Amino acid sequence: MKEDTTKKTVVNSWNEWDPLKHIIVGRADGTMVQAPELAVQRDWPEQGFPLGTYGPYPKEMEEKANEQLDNFAKILESRGIRVDRPTPLDFSQTVQTPDWVQNSMFGCMPPRDLLLTVGNEILEATMSFRSRWFEYLCYRPLLEQYFKEDPNFRMEAAPKPRLTERSYKKDFWKEWNSLSKEKQYKYAEKSDWIPTEQEPLFDAADVVRFGKDLFVQKSMVTNDAGIDWLRRHYPDHRIHRVRYRDLTPWHMDTTLVPLRPGLVIFNPVRTPLEKAQRELFEKNDWEIIEGPKTVLDKKRPMTFCSIWLNLNILVLDPKTVCVEASETPVIELLNKHGLEVIPVPFYEVSPFGGGLHCGSADVYREGTCEDYLPKQVKGF
Ligand code: ARG
Repeated sequence: MKEDTTKKTVVNSWNEWDPLKHIIVGRADGTMVQAPELAVQRDWPEQGFPLGTYGPYPKEMEEKANEQLDNFAKILESRGIRVDRPTPLDFSQTVQTPDWVQNSMFGCMPPRDLLLTVGNEILEATMSFRSRWFEYLCYRPLLEQYFKEDPNFRMEAAPKPRLTERSYKKDFWKEWNSLSKEKQYKYAEKSDWIPTEQEPLFDAADVVRFGKDLFVQKSMVTNDAGIDWLRRHYPDHRIHRVRYRDLTPWHMDTTLVPLRPGLVIFNPVRTPLEKAQRELFEKNDWEIIEGPKTVLDKKRPMTFCSIWLNLNILVLDPKTVCVEASETPVIELLNKHGLEVIPVPFYEVSPFGGGLHCGSADVYREGTCEDYLPKQVKGF
């Protein structure tokens, strides 16, 4: 089917599963192993990027990733979904604000990290890496277009953070790297990650949308002030602050993955630290299934995501989902639950920032804001 360009632009999406009509898919062009900054540590000596060094990802990797991204876009278009793409910048350039200079940017593969669509609003997240501070510019051509085309679209941005050294815990990495695994898990229970509470910080991918309920994870990129900011920004929603048994957590889309009303996947090793979350789903008769392990025995080189990208699923509608093509265990599990699975090869993209959910951002899903969890748990 050809894309219907006469279709009206509508910005609207309340959850992760309503019928998808319009989406943004990222690009790998020019992605950088970002220059050192307080928030990030990259250490890939075998690929030529030992700690403290930076530079572009190898061209060959970039091309393979772009092939898979283009193919993903084609698959979506063949199902009548409109697909837009960001405009990459020269990510190797030095950027600065009055507060700091950063020797490189990052890229624009994972639009999910930056763009949070709730109803007729797309909100640009604050982000919390200096290398990603200007990433929103890659999406401005699209947002400006939507603003012209959809009279109801609310184009919104969260306050840009200062990101001075006061925004990061001093010596976090030194302390973290000195801990044993066991002590790291102990540490994780406090959820006292690298961002301080100096200013609101969040990435959009630390939010999972369930209509009236939004789950927001405290993480390496989202602090309590950020969660509080979101709570004040969405006064008609219920914001649930969540944490998991996860080391240096960032982004929730391999941790808690809703598939349709009443069915959600939990990451089997990342037990929620807020026990109330499980209770909330149970009370409202949601079935919780545990995600199976990946078929991979190790991560791709230069991948800063975890091994759990097999659970990074993009739902097209409550009966149809996209899953990484090689991940038979997940595909079989979802088939068993009555879902049609579209296999999409995507692991060449993982070094550029994630899977099928990370690599996309909703513009339009049919549907309205509904209450899927009417029986609430007190204090959560
Ligand atoms: N914490 C997730 C993992 O590595 C992050 C996945 C990437 N997500 C994203 N939206 N970029 O398992």
